Formats: sequence, structure tokens, C-alpha cells
Amino acid sequence: MKKMRVALIAGGKSSEREVSLKSGEQVFQSLNQAKYDIRRYDPRNDLERLVREAGELDVALIIMHGRGGEDGSIQGLLDLLEIPYQGSGVLASALAMNKELSKIMYLQAGLKVPHALVFTQKEAPAAKQIKEKLGLPVVIKPVHEGSSIGITIAKNLKELEQGLAAAFKYDYRVLVEAFIEGPEVTGGVLGNVELQALPLVEIVPATTYPFFTYEAKYQAGATTEICPARLDPELTDAAQRCALIAHQALGCRGYSRTDMKVKDGEIYVLETNTIPGMTATSLFPQGAKAAGIEFPALLDKLIELALEKN
Ligand SMILES: Nc1ncnc2c1ncn2[C@@H]1O[C@H](COP(=O)(O)OP(=O)(O)O)[C@@H](O)[C@H]1O
Ligand SMILES: [Mg+2]
Repeated sequence: MKKMRVALIAGGKSSEREVSLKSGEQVFQSLNQAKYDIRRYDPRNDLERLVREAGELDVALIIMHGRGGEDGSIQGLLDLLEIPYQGSGVLASALAMNKELSKIMYLQAGLKVPHALVFTQKEAPAAKQIKEKLGLPVVIKPVHEGSSIGITIAKNLKELEQGLAAAFKYDYRVLVEAFIEGPEVTGGVLGNVELQALPLVEIVPATTYPFFTYEAKYQAGATTEICPARLDPELTDAAQRCALIAHQALGCRGYSRTDMKVKDGEIYVLETNTIPGMTATSLFPQGAKAAGIEFPALLDKLIELALEKN
């Protein structure tokens, strides 16, 4: 049988380049070489070659995070080139990458989200006013980033001012959210038409980290990840349902992973990742494994779902 020609796209120029390259390498190692003829592309250097070779490719795996990878732009290019790819299309990718617009979609779908304010640097209210509206602590985030880049938690007015300045280095719009104290869980969803909510993974960063920071995410051993999450059956059900609703609210396809916080028996949706981390031990693959889907089989499934698309 002829091998399927897979474009493995990783790298790019976003602040998550290093993470992408690491995931890309693991995906390369785990893809079944007997089944796939794998060609690798790094959009930082290889876009022209990708366009030139488009006619020789059956499917693409986009293993990129953040801008230029997870935000719909590479998806748009692949649409034009008529190369099917895993996961969400242009619109859902762009919506999920935007923490302001995705919140609106979640609210519309009846999900709970932390109270928030969004503004440009010019419109930014005084720290005192923000405190009056949201209380303290608050979480300050660039609207379009990932991997906790540019995110800080402010416990007082001074930290709030510093956090705003830090976030505006990454984005022209910044989101300030009420801090939700409680367990953090993340829920994978897999499928195109029939959606499967994967077992939840609970995230417990070491106490030296104020939250699930960049270091807590990528430093080996910095975070304890517990799968399935230690929530009672009703809350587990509720959180899995939230992950499904968030996936649908944004119009995701193939797979997604939604980050959530739990407080007083309520689930608060933080954000949805349309290209979740893809090393064998990343959060989405952990959830898949708990559902009996090992990493290479997960990659097969994502490719199968990609081809089902059109
Ligand atoms: N409202 C909040 N309350 C408490 N913690 C939060 C809140 N928002 C974000 N966090 C913490 O910050 C981390 C990153 O935020 P998230 O919205 O998931 O952005 P990113 O796209 O960078 O992953 C979360 O995993 C969580 O630990
Ligand atoms: Mg997150």
C-alpha cells in the first residue's frame, strides 16, 4: 500500500516556537513510519517549499501554538492549498486564540467565565477602578497569547499596574479577570461529529509557582498532573460537559482542550486550546491515554479526522 504523505508543520515565529519544535520532534518519532511518508516544514523558513510541494501532500499535522500556528493563519494557507489538516479551521482557531471573543461565545452558550474587563492601553482604567470592579487578586492576560506568556496575578494595586505594563508588551488588548481560587482542570474533546469528552486532567503546580506559569508548564517535574482529576462524579460530569460546550461554542473540529477552574461547585471556563501540547506526556495525550488511546494511535485518529473533514 502507498504511504500517506504527511506534512509535519512545526516551529514558526511565535513565542511558543521552542515548545512547538519539541512537540514536533515527538510527533515525528511517534508517527508510524510504515504508514506515513513524513515531510517536515518549519514555517519560519519553509513556507515557500510547502506551497511548492502542496500537490504532493495528502494531509498536514500542524504542531504549532500561539500566533501564526494556532490562530487560523496557517489553517487559511492550507485551505487555499487544499491540504486537509488536523483540528479546527480558520474561524474557530482565531476565536479560540482571542480570549476576549471566546469569552463572548462561552457566555452565549451558557458557560460560566470569570468576571473580566478588556481594554487597550489608551482605554485602561486606573488600577483602583479595576479593583473596585473585580476585587483582588486579579489575573492579567494579553488577549492573544498562550503558554501563560505575559500573564501575571496581582494581589495589590502596585502589582496590578506592573502586570498591565507587562501584558501590554505582548498585546494591544489586555484582559483582567477575577482570580478564581480552586482546583484547575483541563478537558480534552476528540471527534468531528460524534464528540468524546476525555477524562479530565487536574493541574497542580508546585507551591513555588503562583499559578500554571510558563515554567510550571514546561519545566520537568514542576507540576503534578493527576488524571483523572480528583473531582466528585457530578463535578467531573459538569466539567466534561463544559469542555464539550466550549468546543462547540467556538465551532472547533477534531479536537480541543479547555482549561477550567472549579470554585464552590461551579466550573469556570478560562480558555480553549485548538492545538494543545503534543508531546506524549502533554495534557491532551494524558487524557487520551486514560481513555485507552495511546499517543501513536491518537496521531492516527487526528489524521483520520482531518481526512474526514472535506
Ligand atoms: N481567572 C483565573 N483565576 C485563576 N487562575 C487563572 C485565571 N486565569 C488564568 N489562570 C491561571 O493562568 C494559567 C494560564 O491562563 P490561560 O487563560 O489558560 O491562558 P494560556 O493561553 O496562557 O494558557 C491557567 O492555567 C491558570 O493557572
Ligand atoms: Mg491555558
